[in-house]
Amino acid sequence: MRQVQVHQFGGPEVLQIKHAEKPAISQWELLVEVHYASANPKDVMLRKGKLKNYLSIAFPLQLGQDFSGVVVKAGSKAGPYKPGDRIYGMVNEHNNGTLAEYLRVAPNEVYFAPENLSLAEAAAIPLTAQTALRAFRNIAKIKPGDSVCINGASGGVGVFAIQVAKILGARVTAISSEKNHALCRELGADVTVDYKKTPPAELKQQFDVFFDVFGNQNWRKARHLLKKTGWYITTVPNYKNIMDSLLSVFKIKNARLVVVESDSEDLRQLKTWIEAGKLRPVIEAEFPMEQIAEVHRRIETKRTVGKIVVRVTG
Ligand SMILES: NC(=O)c1ccc[n+]([C@@H]2O[C@H](COP(=O)([O-])OP(=O)(O)OC[C@H]3O[C@@H](n4cnc5c(N)ncnc54)[C@H](OP(=O)(O)O)[C@@H]3O)[C@@H](O)[C@H]2O)c1
Repeated sequence: MRQVQVHQFGGPEVLQIKHAEKPAISQWELLVEVHYASANPKDVMLRKGKLKNYLSIAFPLQLGQDFSGVVVKAGSKAGPYKPGDRIYGMVNEHNNGTLAEYLRVAPNEVYFAPENLSLAEAAAIPLTAQTALRAFRNIAKIKPGDSVCINGASGGVGVFAIQVAKILGARVTAISSEKNHALCRELGADVTVDYKKTPPAELKQQFDVFFDVFGNQNWRKARHLLKKTGWYITTVPNYKNIMDSLLSVFKIKNARLVVVESDSEDLRQLKTWIEAGKLRPVIEAEFPMEQIAEVHRRIETKRTVGKIVVRVTG
């Protein structure tokens, strides 16, 4: 099968398409023909070697976490799935790349794909929508009427953060560049702010939740924007954010790092909202797997609106 591999850290030119053995599966796993994957900033960080001190990395590195596809073989103890089922999900291991024609997955990382979406659309959901869900439902425990501010509202995580916060009943302030304000409003934002005109730290309001998706507003910069019981949540696992998050466990601070993991129950929840017309993916572009270097160049601009999906065999 064909697979994207990285044999040394470096620029987009180190991304290569190579032939590899089809993965073997155990009785607890599924073999999937991957139709689409989608790109995330983490893929770029892995390719550059920025995560080498945090993760055990072996070459060749296989990239990609999100996928959608069709089950081709199901282990006898791998849940309700059978060959031919359309599924979507995210792999929790960082070296079981979804940019491959065939993929080995565990049933707790996947769910049946939403019936009203194409597989290209379904691949744009798992990692970033589950991040938003964990931040707002698990950490902040948003209640109807809460006020939520999202910094980086037009990117991969942000477009789902707006929609999930609205579904949970919050009033949403979305921070993005002005050109993306119409999209943020269409997705449900009540207020939009252009960070070039109003830096987040200069906002006059206090929020129940400040979600720093983009990652340039740490707890110190944002604490005055929080109500007394408000939560600062970040996506960026740097030393300061991890320490702040640890101190919050002892109630010294109110800051948390969200860490996404795939969970079939969360994917089932997202599918229900999508099929009810409450949640939708935003896709900036679709590329064939052969153009993976171009996909990485676009992600590195930090200007992606929603997600970029990658056609593997679809
Ligand atoms: N901890 C976890 O489990 C987890 C999970 C998912 C993602 N992440 C991390 O979260 C971060 C965001 O991920 P993503 O997928 O949303 O990234 P992304 O799609 O690449 O984000 C692109 C967006 O960033 C916005 N942006 C650029 N400059 C900005 C600025 N100065 N202020 C505010 N927004 C700005 C852009 O909006 P405009 O063009 O409108 O300016 C663009 O829409 C990444 O660092 C990623 O690694 C962590």
